[in-house]
Amino acid sequence: MSTKNNVTFQFEGQNVLITGGAQGIGLQIAGSFLAAGSQVTVWDYSEQALSVASQELAKFGNRFCATQANVAELDSCLKAAQRLPGPLDVLVNNAGIVRDKSFAKMSAEEFGAVIGTNLTGVFNVTKSVLDRFREGSSCKRIINISSVVALYGNFGQTNYVAAKAGVIGMTKTWGRELARKGFTVNAIAPGFTRTQMVQTMPKEVLDKMANQVPVGRLGETQDIATAVLFLASQEAGYINGTILSVDGGLVC
Ligand SMILES: NC(=O)c1ccc[n+]([C@@H]2O[C@H](COP(=O)([O-])OP(=O)(O)OC[C@H]3O[C@@H](n4cnc5c(N)ncnc54)[C@H](O)[C@@H]3O)[C@@H](O)[C@H]2O)c1
Repeated sequence: MSTKNNVTFQFEGQNVLITGGAQGIGLQIAGSFLAAGSQVTVWDYSEQALSVASQELAKFGNRFCATQANVAELDSCLKAAQRLPGPLDVLVNNAGIVRDKSFAKMSAEEFGAVIGTNLTGVFNVTKSVLDRFREGSSCKRIINISSVVALYGNFGQTNYVAAKAGVIGMTKTWGRELARKGFTVNAIAPGFTRTQMVQTMPKEVLDKMANQVPVGRLGETQDIATAVLFLASQEAGYINGTILSVDGGLVC
């Protein structure tokens, strides 16, 4: 995780909430907002990952706040919402899990678990904090992390694709419902991105994945974080209800 930000975004005085921000893409998004001056709160259900993230981001002092919360449970989100340090400016719905299996082998539990976190989780979190956004602001931002597979389907991912496609539907609906209240709501569809999970795959598999990408490489977490900061910026205020692919041209 790098907190070096080559693109200059300024978010001083802004409160940002990132779910699943204790590792991977979410942690990079947290580090990038901190580097740009924000107050950042991360919700994650992994106590261990939160503790590692807190050490990694310790240099930002009390601008970083880690809260244990399970996005799959509305009560947990409502409780965590009460501990937010101030009125929110930006929400990034990033928490996600995979339970991959072919449709023939996938159990109802595996389907439900992924829908519960990746789709219902986005509903639960947004529901819990919607009235915690800065009153009167015309620069409120909700950014949902979907996936490239929501746009084309993927073998072994019935649950994940259904959830991520549902997130696109919610994004477009909220873009319409919330715009007059000062929000923009957008989604990002990352392609194959090098997180811990991806890095444990054999080199041949990674090379094959990279070869499928027109720009010839896997995505870095910083690629996704930069797109999030752009959509969160004041300058992106006329972008609403859209799905931004950050996938090196995999789906074009
Ligand atoms: N890595 C990729 O190639 C890729 C591609 C497309 C989309 N995405 C999406 O990007 C997001 C981040 O992915 P990542 O690769 O960084 O994953 P990751 O597994 O490294 O991190 C996910 C984080 O979410 C947390 N989390 C999971 N379930 C939770 C719950 N119920 N409540 C609270 N926290 C929870 C985990 O503890 C973890 O810290 C996910 O939504 C994922 O679906 C990733």
